[in-house]
Amino acid sequence: MQNKVKHIDKSEVSAQLNTAREIADGFAARGLVGEAAPGYFIHTLGCQQNEADSERLAGLCALMGYRRVDDPAEARLILVNTCAIREHAEKRALSFIGEYKHIKEAHPDTVIGVGGCMVTQRHRADKLKMSFPYVSFTFDTGAIHMVPSLVKKYVSGKGRSFIISKDYKIAENIPTVTSSRHSAWLSVMYGCNNFCSYCIVPYVRGRERSRLPDDIIAEAKRLIEGGAREITLLGQNVNSYGRDLDIGENFASIMKKVCALDGDFRVRFMTSHPKDASSELIDVMATEEKAVKHFHLPVQSGSDEILCRMNRRYTSAHYKGILDELKKKVPDVSITSDIIVGFPGETEADFEATLDMIRYAEYDMIFSFIYSPRIGTPAAEMEDQIPAEVSSERFRRLTALQDSISEKKNSRFVGKKLKLLVDEVSKTDNTMLTGRGDPVRPVHFKGDASLVGQLVTVEITAATPYTLEGKLV
Ligand code: SAH
Ligand code: SF4
Ligand code: F3S
Repeated sequence: MQNKVKHIDKSEVSAQLNTAREIADGFAARGLVGEAAPGYFIHTLGCQQNEADSERLAGLCALMGYRRVDDPAEARLILVNTCAIREHAEKRALSFIGEYKHIKEAHPDTVIGVGGCMVTQRHRADKLKMSFPYVSFTFDTGAIHMVPSLVKKYVSGKGRSFIISKDYKIAENIPTVTSSRHSAWLSVMYGCNNFCSYCIVPYVRGRERSRLPDDIIAEAKRLIEGGAREITLLGQNVNSYGRDLDIGENFASIMKKVCALDGDFRVRFMTSHPKDASSELIDVMATEEKAVKHFHLPVQSGSDEILCRMNRRYTSAHYKGILDELKKKVPDVSITSDIIVGFPGETEADFEATLDMIRYAEYDMIFSFIYSPRIGTPAAEMEDQIPAEVSSERFRRLTALQDSISEKKNSRFVGKKLKLLVDEVSKTDNTMLTGRGDPVRPVHFKGDASLVGQLVTVEITAATPYTLEGKLV
C-alpha cells in the first residue's frame, strides 16, 4: 500500500530527524539549552493547511533545540510560511521577509528560511535567490521535512539552497508543536487535482494524496489524549479523500471513524468542493453528535457561464440541490461560502446571478475576494479582465447584501441552547468569554477563565450581524 500512496521513505524522514537531533546536541554541547537556547520564530500566512504545516515546522524547530520566541528580533532561526493565493498575499510575504533584513544585519548568525506556496513557484524562488541575499534557503510545500538539513547546510557554511521538488509526497512522523492545545488541525490529504482556472493551489501543492486511515486515526487519538476538544480535518477538497488509495475509504467514512473515537470533543472539516459533496457526508453530519453542524461549501459564482469558465464542473442548479438537502437533513446548519468577484468576463448579469445565489443560500457568512490573476493559471490569460473599480463596486454591493442576511441568520439561534468550545477570555472584559460551536459567529457570555478550552452549553440571548450573546446553562 505504501508505494501506491506515495509516502516519503521512512528512512529519509528519520535521517532528517536525526540531523535535527545533531543540531540540538551541538547547542547542548555549548550549554545553549533551556532559556539559553537560541530562539525560533515562524511567520505563517495563508490558509489552515499552512497553519497545520507550520505546526510541523515548529515541531522540527523544537527538535533542533531551538526555543519558541514571540519577537522575531530575538530569533536566530526565522521561518516564513508563505501563501500565493492572491497578489496581496505575496506582497505581504515579501514585505515581512524584507523586514527581517534588519535582524540579519544586527545578528549575522540568524538563519532565515522561506517556505510555502509562494516559493514553490520558480519565479518567486528565483527572486528570493537574486534579490534577497539575506534569505538562507527556500523550501517548497513538499520539502518541510528537509528543513533540518537545510539549516545544517547553511550554518556549516555550505551555502544557500532553493528547493523546488518535482514530486510531492507525504511525510509521516514529523513531530508537531501545536499552536492551541484545545483546537487542532489534522490534514487528511494534501494537494489538489481540480485546476479551477483562477487558482494557483494545484501548481504549488501538487496532486491529491491521501494519508492512510490508520495514520489519521492515530493522530486524532494523540490529539484527543493531548487535550484537543475540537479537531478540524483538512484538505483542499476533503471529498476527494481516498480516491488515490483505492481501499474502500472515503471522507464520509473517515469522518465517521474520527467521530466514533472516545472522548469529549467535536469534529469540523474543510473544504468541500460542491462537485463532490456527497449525500453520505451530509448524513454523517446529520447523525454524528460530534460533527459540528457547519458546512463550508464555496460556490465562487452564481452564474453558470462563469462557473464553466472557472472550471468548477457544477451548475448553480446542482449547487442549490446540495443546499436544499443540507438544510433539510441538518436543521439549523451553518453554511458558509467563498465568492470571487470580478472574474474575467463577469458581466453585470453574471454578478446579479451571484447576488441571487447569496439570497437563495442565505449564508451565515461568506469569504469574498476580488479576482487576482495568478501567473501560469488559464484565467490570467483570459480576455476581458475586469477593471479594479468595477470589481470594488461589486464587492461593496455583495458585502452589504451579506451583512443584511447575516443578522437575520444569527437571530435564528436566539433562545436555543448550544454546545460551544470556549476559545478565550475577552481582551476588554475579563469576566467575559468567547466560544464557538455550530454558529460560525463567535458567542460572548459571562464565565470564569478556567473554562477556556472546555466544551460548555450556552443559551443564546441576543444576536448582531457579527456576534451572538448568551449565558451559561
Ligand atoms: N480548496 C478550497 C479553497 C482554496 S483557496 C476550495 O476549493 O474551496 C480559498 C479561496 O480563495 C477560494 O475558494 C477562492 O474563493 C479564493 N481564490 C482562489 N484563487 C483566487 C484568485 N486567483 N483570486 C481571488 N480569489 C481566489
Ligand atoms: Fe483551488 Fe479549485 Fe483546488 Fe480549491 S478546488 S484549491 S479553488 S483548484
Ligand atoms: Fe495560500 Fe497555499 Fe493555502 S496558496 S491559501 S497557503 S494552499
